[in-house]
Amino acid sequence: MKQLDLIAVASRLQTKVMGRPLVYAPRLTSTQDLAARLATRGWPEGAAVLAEEQTAGRGRQGRSWWAPPGGALLLSLLLRPTLPPSQAQQLVIAAGLAAAEAIEDVCAVPVELKWPNDLYVRGRKVGGILVESRLSPDGRALDHAIVGIGINVTVDFANQPALQAIATSLHVEAGHPVEREGLLQTLLERWEAHYGAALAGKPCHVEWASRLLWLGEQVLVVTPEGSLVGTAVGVSKEGALLIRRPNGEVEIIWAGEVFPAERENP
Ligand code: BTN
Repeated sequence: MKQLDLIAVASRLQTKVMGRPLVYAPRLTSTQDLAARLATRGWPEGAAVLAEEQTAGRGRQGRSWWAPPGGALLLSLLLRPTLPPSQAQQLVIAAGLAAAEAIEDVCAVPVELKWPNDLYVRGRKVGGILVESRLSPDGRALDHAIVGIGINVTVDFANQPALQAIATSLHVEAGHPVEREGLLQTLLERWEAHYGAALAGKPCHVEWASRLLWLGEQVLVVTPEGSLVGTAVGVSKEGALLIRRPNGEVEIIWAGEVFPAERENP
């Protein structure tokens, strides 16, 4: 396994905040856990935790996140956003766009996003984003957020029957070896730009929406309150998904999972 060369990344990184500092550990339960500890100890916005391996990597909705040692870019970024909690989805938008652009830049493969948090290449999931945030004591502001990104770089899914058909890795899609260092550098640089825009009140939801899978199509949305079918017609400025129901009404979906409508048993 080739270890992540963070000295090389640090020497080339053109950011003011993101990835300053870069914190590395070969093996962690989850990069989210260490980043959360750093947050409570007062580490600054932009601190980024990286690992080769996670023993308890996690995804959204209580799912686990698996990657073999050294096969993925595993990153958690500490943010202290000056945004109201109602705007927390801006963090996903900025991270998703940054990751998509970084992958396209480094690997020249087209990246789509599955609302709200997944990175897709040619119909398969190549990465995901997990935001874990803490509110200020009065509940009116975000104290901090830990934004985790996992991107499969050289993961071999051949012996992973449950994942083989639905997941992919950048080296397969690009058709050539992909270095995590260049990907990390570009990701942090793009992220700083999109996050800065969100903080400045210039959200990138239109650009984000242009990458979303199944917009304009019939979808099945599974939400914590139940499932519904309708046409995905767009996203709100805040990043909520807009679904037009057969009766013409548009529902605003804040949380859930989307599937093409023909898929009946997600
Ligand atoms: C998802 O697809 O549900 C989100 C996956 C997020 C995985 C990343 S890997 C780095 C960070 N540490 C974790 O435990 N999870 C995130």
